[in-house]
Amino acid sequence: MAKKLSPSMFIGLAKEDEDIISFGSGEPDLPPPKRVFKVMPRFKYFKYGLIQGQLNLRTALAKQYPSSAAENFVITNGSSEALDLSLRAISKIENGRKKGVLLPKPYFYTYPHLVEDAGMEPVYTDLIEGRIDFDEFKKKVKNCKAVIINSPSNPTGRIESMETLKKIEKLTNDLGIYVLSDEVYKDLIYERENYLIKGPHVITVNSFSKTYAMCGLRIGYFWSLDKGLVNKVIEIKTCTSMNTNILAQEMAYEAIKIPKSFIKNQLKIWIRRRDFIYESLLNIGLDLWKPEGAFYVFPKIKNSEDFVWNLFKKYKVITYPGEWFGSKDRVRFSYALDIDKIKEGLERVKKYLRKEGSFHLTS
Ligand SMILES: Cc1ncc(COP(=O)(O)O)c(C=O)c1O
Repeated sequence: MAKKLSPSMFIGLAKEDEDIISFGSGEPDLPPPKRVFKVMPRFKYFKYGLIQGQLNLRTALAKQYPSSAAENFVITNGSSEALDLSLRAISKIENGRKKGVLLPKPYFYTYPHLVEDAGMEPVYTDLIEGRIDFDEFKKKVKNCKAVIINSPSNPTGRIESMETLKKIEKLTNDLGIYVLSDEVYKDLIYERENYLIKGPHVITVNSFSKTYAMCGLRIGYFWSLDKGLVNKVIEIKTCTSMNTNILAQEMAYEAIKIPKSFIKNQLKIWIRRRDFIYESLLNIGLDLWKPEGAFYVFPKIKNSEDFVWNLFKKYKVITYPGEWFGSKDRVRFSYALDIDKIKEGLERVKKYLRKEGSFHLTS
């Protein structure tokens, strides 16, 4: 029986033991844009920075968002801090009137914790085939003060249709409900362009962690056209983390200037890996959705905690149990590793399932 598993148990382990194959962390293995390294030798400024974030970075970001200016952004320690600040700001502004925050389930594992830490309550709506069921969404969102949308999704790898996103945009706008759109995988959509949800109550959080493979630098951001909300976020950040690392912001400023071809080339690599892992897992006999973005597959696996534990202890392969994402009978595989490692890791999965783990298979 697996001991109690937690995300922090596995982070960094593959760097210590080269024989470990990690399908665990959502950390891109691809290199960041070369030009970000140019910043380091010439960087001399080590004072506090603006709490809201460096003006050059915010001004550059504003060019990517309609009707926006630098004042609509707050640069944060990854999108993680942007999510946290957004939820706490909403909670303070609403002052206890409505407590529910709607979370499509399965969800990114931090969401319920962040909602609760902000003094609110997660309300769940189950995804169907990895996508929002709009009828149920409509019923449940009415009693909530906010909803978190994550398309492409971690852990499902699915994207919401444009039609659903537009319906959510209209409904939440009509009801005056905040939409917190976590778009950290917006550049990693395999099928189409991203659709940016817009409106007076929309918050977008994003990050340099995935698109530019700069996750350890911890640069993310919050965007909103709601001035009151922006000010509340700055107010909370002033008394918590204060400014975000200014060297890392300068590097992010360089990253954002790179041509679109960098992202297109990375996307080709992700699609190749997606195709390989998807086909291979189907051949092994697992039931899974085909990812349309991000870099995760989420197959059905019975006794998923035992699967994760046995595979780690006996075959040195790291995967994450679905329970962390609100889905007990699934396991998350990140394919942020090169294809040779994916191949080797899947060979070990196959061996485990054939030799002793056939009870994990659902059919
Ligand atoms: C959906 C989602 N949101 C937010 C984050 C946090 O990323 P970061 O804080 O590095 O921007 C992650 C990281 O895996 C994620 O998958």
